[in-house]
Amino acid sequence: MKFFIDTGDVKEVREAAAMGLVDGITTNPSLIAKSGRKYREVVVEMCELVNGPISAEVLSTTYDEMMAEARDWHKLHKNIVVKLPLTQDGLKGVRTCTSEGIRTNVTLCFSPNQALLAAKAGASYISPFIGRLDDISETGMDLIQKIVTIYQNYDFATEVLVASVRNPTHVVDAALIGAHVCTIPYSVMQQLIKHPLTDLGLQKFVEDAKKIPK
Ligand code: E4P
Repeated sequence: MKFFIDTGDVKEVREAAAMGLVDGITTNPSLIAKSGRKYREVVVEMCELVNGPISAEVLSTTYDEMMAEARDWHKLHKNIVVKLPLTQDGLKGVRTCTSEGIRTNVTLCFSPNQALLAAKAGASYISPFIGRLDDISETGMDLIQKIVTIYQNYDFATEVLVASVRNPTHVVDAALIGAHVCTIPYSVMQQLIKHPLTDLGLQKFVEDAKKIPK
């Protein structure tokens, strides 16, 4: 499973990349707003740091405006994947982008049918938001299983990019299902590293190391 980092903070990208945990990056308007920086500036820096797909989301919601943004992002760097919302205009945008050789990530997916439509439109990635489904008492991971099954049934090339990841269980469940990609916040990556027995074991080794004759 590929690991993307879900962030608007280039410092987090640098840290995670130093551990070899960044195959790509996703971001969104909320994450960029949190960074307090200009969108383009952040994305350019990300492109310099990571040689992999970097999802930059359009800010508009109408087809013509989204296409103008998509072409603009595409011109900026070869690794940029344009993130479009799962709406009627968004799907039209995906189809046009596909015909123009622009890779797309369809965001805000909450149902198997939406994922089916995105694949039919030619999306490179589908982003089902599992954490937000869990938030409303649905089991987000069930959606991932359904989408993976549907895509396998018909050999769709669209990759399942598990998004809205909130905890380590989401990551291991995505890997068990066989999702192509999981986009993970830096804080969750840090949680993945930790195990109390690792800490205890290391503490013991450090103490015992002091007893070894020099
Ligand atoms: C991914 O592409 C989305 O930007 C992100 O995972 C959304 O996560 P959230 O539901 O925690 O905001």
